[in-house]
Amino acid sequence: MTTPALTLPLGTPLSPSATRVMLLGAGELGKEVLIALQRLGVETIAVDRYDHAPGQQVAHHSRTIAMSDPQALRALIEAERPHLVVPEIEAIATPELEALEAEGAVRVIPTARAARLTMDREGIRRLAAETLGLPTSPYRFCDSLAELQAAIDGTDGQPGIGYPCVVKPVMSSSGKGQSKLDGPADVAPAWDYAMQGGRVSHGRVIVEGFIDFDYEITQLTVRAAGTGAQQGEVMTHFCDPIGHIQVSGDYVESWQPHPMHPEALRKARQIAQAVTDNLGGQGLFGVELFVKGEQVWFSEVSPRPHDTGLVTLCTQVQSEFELHARAILGLPVDTRLRSPGASAVIYGGVDAQAVVFEGVAEALAEPGTDIRLFGKPESFVKRRMGVALAANTDVEAARQQAKAAAARVKVRPAP
Ligand SMILES: Nc1ncnc2c1ncn2[C@@H]1O[C@H](COP(=O)(O)OP(=O)(O)O)[C@@H](O)[C@H]1O
Ligand SMILES: [Mg+2]
Repeated sequence: MTTPALTLPLGTPLSPSATRVMLLGAGELGKEVLIALQRLGVETIAVDRYDHAPGQQVAHHSRTIAMSDPQALRALIEAERPHLVVPEIEAIATPELEALEAEGAVRVIPTARAARLTMDREGIRRLAAETLGLPTSPYRFCDSLAELQAAIDGTDGQPGIGYPCVVKPVMSSSGKGQSKLDGPADVAPAWDYAMQGGRVSHGRVIVEGFIDFDYEITQLTVRAAGTGAQQGEVMTHFCDPIGHIQVSGDYVESWQPHPMHPEALRKARQIAQAVTDNLGGQGLFGVELFVKGEQVWFSEVSPRPHDTGLVTLCTQVQSEFELHARAILGLPVDTRLRSPGASAVIYGGVDAQAVVFEGVAEALAEPGTDIRLFGKPESFVKRRMGVALAANTDVEAARQQAKAAAARVKVRPAP
């Protein structure tokens, strides 16, 4: 089945002919999407829940609202009338976006339904495992500590998940509220931790069987305008696989390409195609997969640029942010690799406002090394404040180089 690609005419910003795009969420990923849009002369509106968010610093307009508040979200979209609304985060009143899209008031990227299904773990997991029949970890959803214990033990008439397993709030990201359980003593603490770490106190968790994978990847997948025989249709394009390391559910390091067995790569792309075909629309998706030998499991998907894809700023002809910008505007994309490379996160390491960065020159001294500092107004110990990037002919060398560069940057409280 083919879907016609929608193309927006490009105009002049701040004039009646402007093509207007609103980013819902203006963190470091949104900032790069905004820069890519700016380069095409798109008029941009950056929305976040706090002032001076990274993306707000590079957009034509900034707005600060609670995006999880349906009334506030509707009022803003109706006042601004953007051609496209581009969610960058999960914590958005997505049912309101669906209503606005159904009214024809706005086009949501990739679709309002995709934003809703991926905002909580239940929607996307049930779609992938139950509707599409894709391989995933065994899982159950639970609303109380007693239900969680019964799901693990299998005392509720269904097969038990057993140990080790992973418990996560249904609404959370970056590993917040997530724990690995090795035995019965871990169950109550995991439940309590999930209740504190969820985005809204939802009182619902997913418990998943632990997958003892060899490695995990992000398969960046782009639904964009086709060329040649597929001109005018949405076509699926794949980037090279991105390998990454997560610590407590948060990405600390990524690299591209990650070498894969051809059969595992084929399965990874088949899964990515099935999920993104179903979510539909135009844009870039980050499909997270676990791999063991030739076996591949679907984990989750972001219908937007993925944090591990920051590496593409130094590895691809077009970064994941440029790919997203082009795809949503209806332009052709180029997913080719330019050079192997790696990224390493620069954490705040300190709780302070208006910090200063030391060691940047030292970090950049090595050829092929680059740095992004996100410009966040406040640092937290575990907040991602920047990223080090390294391009190298050898991916292992690039990893060492990126980590060394990140380690040289020190975040200090302002004097
Ligand atoms: N079932 C599982 N088995 C093994 N590792 C897991 C499992 N679920 C999550 N993880 C690990 O935790 C990381 C974060 O989990 P994920 O579901 O992607 O949460 P988030 O939405 O916070 O990114 C994964 O990238 C993986 O490293
Ligand atoms: Mg994840």
